[in-house]
Amino acid sequence: MNATLRPLLVLLMLLLLLALLPAARAQQAAAPQLPPADFVAPALPKPEESNAERGKTQPGNNAPFWRAVRESGNSEGFTTLPGVEKGVLIQPFVQYPGSRLTTAGEAWREVRNRWILPYGGALLLIVVGAIALFYWRKGVLGGHVPDTGRRVERFTPFERSAHWANAIAFVILGVSGVVMAFGKFFLLPVIGGTLFGWLTYALKTAHNFAGPVFAVSLIVVFLTFVRDNLPRKGDMQWLARFGGLLGEREVPSHRFNAAEKLLFWGGVFVLGAIVVASGLVLDKLIPGLEYTRGDMQLAHIVHALATILMLTAFIGHIYIGTIGMKGAYGAMRTGYVDEAWAQEHHEWWYDDIKAGKIPAQRSRTGENAPQAATQT
Ligand code: HEM
Repeated sequence: MNATLRPLLVLLMLLLLLALLPAARAQQAAAPQLPPADFVAPALPKPEESNAERGKTQPGNNAPFWRAVRESGNSEGFTTLPGVEKGVLIQPFVQYPGSRLTTAGEAWREVRNRWILPYGGALLLIVVGAIALFYWRKGVLGGHVPDTGRRVERFTPFERSAHWANAIAFVILGVSGVVMAFGKFFLLPVIGGTLFGWLTYALKTAHNFAGPVFAVSLIVVFLTFVRDNLPRKGDMQWLARFGGLLGEREVPSHRFNAAEKLLFWGGVFVLGAIVVASGLVLDKLIPGLEYTRGDMQLAHIVHALATILMLTAFIGHIYIGTIGMKGAYGAMRTGYVDEAWAQEHHEWWYDDIKAGKIPAQRSRTGENAPQAATQT
């Protein structure tokens, strides 16, 4: 096996193992229990019929049953919920200032459906549209300095392993999250209720397992890249001129420029911590919490808001890291860049390499250094 791939594989397997153990335990704990033999379901207005009808078009959807529970005003019954909410079928009725009498669950649902989904969805579409417009008008950035054929190492195999473990988990989480949140608007009408039901169930399970992998790899990414993302002289100048990215010549920067540093501190550190913490609550992986419905609703709202912001930030990162900038993807795929790339995009980093302050080859062997080849 290619020696570059070996550490990546080992890291991925380690992360997977770390992630699977608690998640598997949580899944086991959440296995459905049957009600006791003497349990008598509350008399509700025709719940079976309406549930059965709904089940034909949307398998697994038992909304009519819960509507009937709410309308009956009877919130007590048999539940498999442990803890303080044992035996409580639905949350108590509340009246928020300026709103009608409702349950906290219904209020959460309205926040989700009326605020988070429409505004969050619009933000995501606007960002994708803005990037498409930028690509159409400006095309691929970089490529102004001709390649020299001499290579310097930009990312060691360890750095790339950490990055790709995190990026793969992020993509799984992003795709499954978007389908769970918005799929009913763009997928359900196309593939129908049955397939959509199974797909979202599969994606929800994938989301639960990829979450812990993302959490662990995010910490590794943070520790790996924090040093070169500390603020340095010149960052403000870079920001003030937007790096010169729109012009012919980029503003000089060290190994990472000010935009990368902003993404690192805002996206990886702040949003990453919020997304991971709220996600671990939703996965019930933080010991000592009650996990009441109220806790879960709050965690869900925080998680949804932070993930939408994180998605918008990283859609930009993924764009620049793939089709948006010549040579960027090659840096993270092979670990190496042409000296011309280093000089054009990170001039002070290149100067330090030329001056011998930073080694051009940081990992132990250079055996995998690609010889002069066209950068992707
Ligand atoms: C498919 C998804 C992704 C792709 C294609 C991608 C691509 C890239 C590329 C090409 C670079 C090198 C940039 C350079 O040389 O300056 C990079 C750097 C980096 N990426 Fe990603 N990335 C992805 C997802 C992520 C995710 C999800 C995170 C973290 C949440 C992340 C965090 C970083 C960090 C910390 C760096 C180092 C630069 C810095 O500190 O700003 N990436 N990525």
